[in-house]
Amino acid sequence: MNARAAAAPPPEAAEAPDLFSKFDPLIAQRQALLDTGVKDPFSLVMEKVLSPTRAIVSGKETILLGTYNYMGMTFDPEVIAAGKKALDEFGSGTTGSRVLNGTYQGHRECEAALRDFYAMDHAMVFSTGYQANLGVISTMAGKGDYVILDIDSHASIYDGCAMGNAEVVPFRHNDVSALEKRLARIPAEAGKLVVLEGVYSMLGDVAPLREMIAVSKAAGAMVLVDEAHSMGFIGPNGRGVAEEQDVLDQVDFVIGTFSKSVGTVGGFCVSNHPKFEILRLVCRPYVFTASLPPSVVATAATSIRKLMHGTNKRAHLWENSKRLHAGLKQLGFTLGTETPQSAIIAVIMPDLEKGAAMWEALLAEGLYVNLARPPATPANMTLLRCSLCAEHSDAEVTEILTMFENAGRTTGVI
Ligand SMILES: Cc1ncc(COP(=O)(O)O)c(C=O)c1O
Repeated sequence: MNARAAAAPPPEAAEAPDLFSKFDPLIAQRQALLDTGVKDPFSLVMEKVLSPTRAIVSGKETILLGTYNYMGMTFDPEVIAAGKKALDEFGSGTTGSRVLNGTYQGHRECEAALRDFYAMDHAMVFSTGYQANLGVISTMAGKGDYVILDIDSHASIYDGCAMGNAEVVPFRHNDVSALEKRLARIPAEAGKLVVLEGVYSMLGDVAPLREMIAVSKAAGAMVLVDEAHSMGFIGPNGRGVAEEQDVLDQVDFVIGTFSKSVGTVGGFCVSNHPKFEILRLVCRPYVFTASLPPSVVATAATSIRKLMHGTNKRAHLWENSKRLHAGLKQLGFTLGTETPQSAIIAVIMPDLEKGAAMWEALLAEGLYVNLARPPATPANMTLLRCSLCAEHSDAEVTEILTMFENAGRTTGVI
């Protein structure tokens, strides 16, 4: 190389893109919505929480119909007392992973409560339900294995598949024959994990687990069921849809969360598989993260043990769900399911603008519901998701229906 070539100026560097530019369409869509004068539905603040069903929002007492507090355990006096005691005796956090200094007596007691609740041999507590799915799916199904999943599966299920690098085979929502056809195309000798949910959280519909598990087992697949939205409520003992459909003994892994019926935060997996305990050493979202604080596992264990005796609460929650479903239908709203199938009642909105307007009108009435929109929703739907609580009184359900009628008429949705 001669001296002149060495001294030549470097070619002009191409300008690197702003990595945020991929969000420009979303930023524009959000701005267009806010420009209509609507309140931002995704930045609401609970200024004070009064009970499982009421909070102060924008200075106003508001009925909560969009939490996952299905069994209303967040203000249970025994649950709160257990949390306070653990905070006093064990401190505010573990500052460590479950496999190092982060397993306290409370974590073991919480796992014992789960084993008793499900009558299963093994239980493993994770720091969230998201991490439970991420961890179990990515560890069980690796490169060369297949995960066969309902297309409407939760993000944590998809993320678990991506992390494990398995082949992902989606099938049409709740369609048993589509599942069977997908299974038939997978090589017989390949490892297969079928991932299902008991209740799908967007529309509140229940999976035909009995049929799905039968075709999965016939194809030699292992089965994981995420019972996030059914644990505590559905099934004679609140074990979920698999218990309700009498197929729990055929499920290899049940995934659940403490952030819904249990009323705190955390996730878990229960199983009868004899080799299950090895997961504690190989499951990265279990190993490489701090364990739950002692107060959290103490509240979870107390709540889970109380949920074993929640028959009356479960019955009242069913009553609430049936009344709200029938009442909304009668008012002329379009609902996600023909009949009430869970504690979630989804009200289908014509579009995002109308949905946001209805959401705001309900808030003005003193009612909070969840506004759900694509990509979280199936078929590009905008939904007002109502989730009932066992602590909603009959009078509150009546009040909720009046609020829906008023807001529906103001916005022209009905
Ligand atoms: C089906 C399903 N699985 C898992 C999760 C994650 O639970 P967590 O809130 O404990 O992370 C959710 C949360 O909404 C869920 O709906």
